[in-house]
Amino acid sequence: MLTLIPAARQHMPFRQALMADPATMAYNAPWFPPDGTIPFPEKDWDAWLAQWTACEPERFCGYVATEDGTLVGEVCWHGYGEGMGVVIHADHRGRGYGAEALTLLAERAFSHPEITRLQNNFESDRAPALRMHRCAGFVETGKDADGYTLVQLTRENHRERQLRRVTQAMCQWEAGVPERIHHFIKVHGFARQIGQMEGLSADEMFVLEVAALTHDIGIKPAIAQTGSCPGPLQERLGPPEAASMLGALHIPQAVIDRVCFLIAHHHTTQGVDAPDWQILLEADFLVNAIENSMLPKTVQAYRDTVFRTAEGLHLLSLLVLL
Ligand SMILES: [Fe+2]
Repeated sequence: MLTLIPAARQHMPFRQALMADPATMAYNAPWFPPDGTIPFPEKDWDAWLAQWTACEPERFCGYVATEDGTLVGEVCWHGYGEGMGVVIHADHRGRGYGAEALTLLAERAFSHPEITRLQNNFESDRAPALRMHRCAGFVETGKDADGYTLVQLTRENHRERQLRRVTQAMCQWEAGVPERIHHFIKVHGFARQIGQMEGLSADEMFVLEVAALTHDIGIKPAIAQTGSCPGPLQERLGPPEAASMLGALHIPQAVIDRVCFLIAHHHTTQGVDAPDWQILLEADFLVNAIENSMLPKTVQAYRDTVFRTAEGLHLLSLLVLL
């Protein structure tokens, strides 16, 4: 897992070495012949730091580090995201660091409301660069005036990519238990349907969808500890696991906090005071009613006491003929 650290004087020797390394800078050779390397003498450091520090959201430059503090690359954006850069040191390539560095850069950029997209361009024959950007959710938008491939990551692209990563992590978490994988995939589908039809905002949808994917994360530790998984135990054991998983995926802390609240209350039907909580209860029930072959009177009672959204009630009426 990488972390992103805003540029500071202590990173300048790494920057100097990065730009002096021919293997790292080979891509840059067309502009800085013969080998793409760029001198970065110490006398230039102050001016560079003045240009690239404390200038968010217009510009940002930072360094990505492994868990032991080793710096592996540099990322930046400028012009409020209209341009950007990512360089992973050649010694650290081939390990997925580029896509993770782009994800970290996107999380930081999209924490600023002024930034709605990150855009990059490079020569059309640079397949590894294109693949790295696609892995981080970027999409190609055409060619620029010089014939370079243009790629961009919108806030929506980024969120969708993060949802795919949460889905992947949850499938891994539930490896070998297909019924639980089926369950959260179905709950997520219903939650997305209800949330969109009920007019949730993009921010609310993201929280709801992450919560729908992870809501039953506490079943596995509950079974491991006690051999069973009563609702209150799931609600207690789920949030720490979700916080750990979502933190490793670089999901924003405010989202993690709300998702953990929802996991801790997804069997609680009293005091429901927000659409994400309400919709999660309904989506979970739409799946449980069928998976558990509930009796009509049980479904009816839950419908009358818990269901509130028009779309949830509509879906329930189509699934269960009462
Ligand atoms: Fe569930």
